[in-house]
Amino acid sequence: MTGKPLVSIVSAGLSKFGKMQGLYGRELFAQAAKEAFDRCPNLDPKKTVKALFVGHMGESYEHQGHTGAASANWAGLLPVPAMRTEAACASSGVALRCGVLAVLSGLYDVVMVGGVEKMTHRSTAEVTEFLAMASDFPFEQWHGITFPGLYALMATAHMHKYGTTEEQMAMVAVKNHGNGVLNPKAHMQKEITLEQALSSRVIAWPLKLFDCSLITDGASCLILTKPELANKFTDTPVHIIGSGHACDTIGLYERKELTTLNAGKLAGQEAYKMAKTTPNDIDVAEVHDCFTIAEIIAYEDLNFCKPGDGGKLVEEGITHIKGEIPVNTSGGLKSKGHPVGATGTAQAYEIYLQLTDQAEKRQVEDAEIGLSHNVGGSGATATVHIYKRG
Ligand SMILES: CC(C)(COP(=O)(O)OP(=O)(O)OC[C@H]1O[C@@H](n2cnc3c(N)ncnc32)[C@H](O)[C@@H]1OP(=O)(O)O)[C@@H](O)C(=O)NCCC(=O)NCCS
Repeated sequence: MTGKPLVSIVSAGLSKFGKMQGLYGRELFAQAAKEAFDRCPNLDPKKTVKALFVGHMGESYEHQGHTGAASANWAGLLPVPAMRTEAACASSGVALRCGVLAVLSGLYDVVMVGGVEKMTHRSTAEVTEFLAMASDFPFEQWHGITFPGLYALMATAHMHKYGTTEEQMAMVAVKNHGNGVLNPKAHMQKEITLEQALSSRVIAWPLKLFDCSLITDGASCLILTKPELANKFTDTPVHIIGSGHACDTIGLYERKELTTLNAGKLAGQEAYKMAKTTPNDIDVAEVHDCFTIAEIIAYEDLNFCKPGDGGKLVEEGITHIKGEIPVNTSGGLKSKGHPVGATGTAQAYEIYLQLTDQAEKRQVEDAEIGLSHNVGGSGATATVHIYKRG
């Protein structure tokens, strides 16, 4: 018996992910909100949605802060109280967690949670600098290390300790690009071969171009309500039965261990316990593959396998879309794209589609229980949510 529903998702929306030239982030958020409202005709947004929590990493990209009010305005929700949450790439995982807390508190019956980021109008050098702001300034950024550099340190530590190979990392990329082809909203819908991944240019050794997630524009959102109200709005709700959130040192240099993300592990443990589930119960998962090594570490932190066996899991096809635990059916951050503030609720959107049989070509048969895992920075923040078909 799984844990009881904490809150229910009654609708969800996602903008197209990619290079969305000529659009502001707020317009992408409006697209995502419109899809969520269109999917749920029984819900009158202006009357019913009582608060908005929106994840947004950085004002540097668009020279625009105050994202809560701006997103509420463009979603047509004014004058609802709107709050921005910021936790680097886990900004909207945290927005989702805040929405769960807000509904559970009894203060609001219906809330919207989501996230947005507009990145591609900036040069890669600028984006790299803005992203690096989520690492430690005096001991990391100041010395010039970037996110590919930080995850490269984790990758080499993993290779050294467990014998994980560049081929295994490339297999994550091949799998996720394959899934992205099945997702019409993915940024890059391009199948790649192992040879292509392995021979792509080095970004920060051992990470190559195809080991890195994409710089993307996009927005995502969900509408949450109390489980007892869910059927008022839809016949196919998805219940959130577990929510976990934990933090770690912002600097990688302060960690005892580079081959695991403790925040991810702790968030997973909290969510599994609340949901009264084990990794064996998970039918489909979206995990934070900002770099291919991060997906391998996520398998281990979420106990899909034991520490050190993550590379083998992908090699044996267990996380393939037709495998025992399909991971990143959306294409993941690798191929669907990684508009950092929008990623956490975009992962939840994919699980919502899977558990309501709306994932079309990438539908996992008979999926009942799903999991999403969202990481901020080099692991200073992590959220894990567990979902059940309503
Ligand atoms: C890897 C990275 C540096 C490449 O950027 P770049 O060198 O400026 O690449 P460009 O934008 O000039 O693109 C060159 C080509 O590579 C492709 N490309 C860019 N990034 C790619 C990626 N991550 N994966 C696959 N292909 C990619 C482009 O589509 C383009 O292809 P085309 O020539 O067929 O059009 C950039 O994608 C990156 O920084 N990714 C990581 C983002 C990140 O750190 N996020 C936060 C994680 S914590």
